[in-house]
Amino acid sequence: MPAHALAPIVEEQICQLVRERTGIRLLDHQMDTLRRTVADGIARFGHTHEEEYLAALRLASPSSPEFEHLIAGITVGESYFFRDQAQMEWLREQWLPRLIARRRADNDLHLRIWSAGCSDGQELYSLAMLLADLLPDLERWNLHLLGTDLNAAALARALRGRYSEWSLRATPENARHRHFRWERDHTWSVSETLRARARFSYLNLREDSFPSMLSETAALDLVLCRNVFIYFDPAIVAGVLRKFHACLAPGGCLLLGASDLIDSATLDGFSLHGLGNAFYLERLEPAQASAPEPPPARPAATPRSAPPPPATPRAAPGEAATPLADYGEIIALLGREAWNETLAAVAARQDRGEGGALLWQFRAKALANLGRAREALEACDMSLASDSGDKHSHFLRALILLELHRLPAAEEALRRTLFLDRRFVEAHYQLGLLQMRRGARASGFKSMKNALAIAEQARPDRRLHDAAGRDHERMAAILRHELRIYEPETGGRR
Ligand SMILES: C[S@@+](CC[C@H](N)C(=O)[O-])C[C@H]1O[C@@H](n2cnc3c(N)ncnc32)[C@H](O)[C@@H]1O
Repeated sequence: MPAHALAPIVEEQICQLVRERTGIRLLDHQMDTLRRTVADGIARFGHTHEEEYLAALRLASPSSPEFEHLIAGITVGESYFFRDQAQMEWLREQWLPRLIARRRADNDLHLRIWSAGCSDGQELYSLAMLLADLLPDLERWNLHLLGTDLNAAALARALRGRYSEWSLRATPENARHRHFRWERDHTWSVSETLRARARFSYLNLREDSFPSMLSETAALDLVLCRNVFIYFDPAIVAGVLRKFHACLAPGGCLLLGASDLIDSATLDGFSLHGLGNAFYLERLEPAQASAPEPPPARPAATPRSAPPPPATPRAAPGEAATPLADYGEIIALLGREAWNETLAAVAARQDRGEGGALLWQFRAKALANLGRAREALEACDMSLASDSGDKHSHFLRALILLELHRLPAAEEALRRTLFLDRRFVEAHYQLGLLQMRRGARASGFKSMKNALAIAEQARPDRRLHDAAGRDHERMAAILRHELRIYEPETGGRR
C-alpha cells in the first residue's frame, strides 16, 4: 500500500538530516518506507503534523527516541549467516588458517575482528563459528570479536542471538548442528559459548571516531563492512575507508560486500584483490621502507610507554614535573596516529636519560595501538612505577588488560581509576561494559547509568580525555544507546 505523501520540502529535509548524521543516502525506492516510518513517528510521539515532527527531529540528539525510531525504520538490516560463499570460503580455507599459523609460530594467540554495520549479528557470529572450527584450542586464544551498528534495536537482537530459519539459509549443515540450538519458539539460538565471545556495541560510522582503544577498534586483523556502503553517500565512503585503514594492524584486511561499489581512487593504502564476484582489501604499509624502524622491544624490566597526556601531568616522586608543552612533538605524533614514530621519539628521549610517567604512557598507547598489548602493559607498569597515582595510566592499563581478555585484572584497574577520580566517565562506561560481559547485568547497568549521569552534568562540548575526540554530549548519546541495547524490557523490539 503506498504511504501518505509528505510535503516535498519536509521529505527533502528529513533525507538531508539522515545523510548528515548517518551517511545513508535514501533512494527513490526507499521513499515509501520513509513516509510510513515518519507517519508512524508522528503518531507515536504525539506530533500534530509533519513540520512539528521535523523540528523535533532537528533538535533531537541521535539517541533520542524519535531519531532511533526513524533509523530503525529506514535502515536495511537484511543479513544472514555465512553470507557470500566466496568470501567465507576464502576466510575459512586461506586467510584465517594463514593468520592462525603465523600467530601460533609467534606464540601470540590473539585475533581481532570487527563487523562494522553488523545488523542482527549474523556476520560476526559466522566469523566466530569459522574460528571455533579452525581452533581446536579455542579457550587458549584471546579473541576480540566486535559487532557495531547504529541501530540499537538490531544490536539488542544480536545480543539475544535468536534467529529464524531464513537467517540460516546459507549455513552449512555441520555449523547448524555444532553452533545452534532449536528453541521452543521455533527460532535457532546461537550457542552460549559463541555468544559469550562476541561483543556488540553502538557505533555510528559517520559520526564516531575510530580507531580508538575505547571502542576497541584499534589494531584489528580483519574488518568486515559488507553491504553498508551500498546505502552510503559516496562522498562519505572515502573518509570511512581512510579510518578503516588506520584501524587495521599491519597485514590486516578489509572485506566489503560484492555490491559495495567504491571508487578506486579512494583506495589509497589498500591493495585490491578479487574473489569471484566479491573482493577484499589488504592494508599496504605506507612507505614501509622509509618509515622509521620501531624501536626494539626492551626487556621486561625497562619497557617504554603512552596515552594522550593527562591534563595535569604529575611528577614522579623526587622528579620535577615536565610541562606538557615539552612533549609537543610526541603529542602531535599521537594525534596523527603515527605510532611507530611515537615509539622512536619516546625512545630517543629515554635514551637521553629523560624519565617520568608520561613518556611510558605515550609508549604504552603507541604499542597498544600497534596491537603489541603485552609490551604495552609492561610500559604501563613502568609508568605506574614512576607515578602510581596517575588515573590515566590506570585507565590505559585497564583497556590493555581488556584487550588481553584479563577481565578480573581489568576490572580492578578500572576500580583503581575510579578510586582516583569518581567522575571519570570513560572508566564508569568501560566498567559497565565489562560487568555486562561478565554476566553482572544489574551492576553493569548501574555503572553505565553513573557514566551517563556524569556525562549529562558536564559541559556538553568538553572533550573527554581518553575517548578519541568524543565530547560529553556524544558520550552521553552513546551511553543512551548502549543502555537501550542492554535494557531487558525494550531490548530486541523494533
Ligand atoms: C544490510 S545490513 C548489512 C549487515 C551485514 N554487514 C551483512 O552484510 O550481512 C547494513 C547495516 O548497516 C548499518 N548502518 C547503516 N549506516 C550505518 C552507520 N552510519 N553506522 C553504523 N552502521 C550503519 C545498518 O543499520 C544495517 O544494520
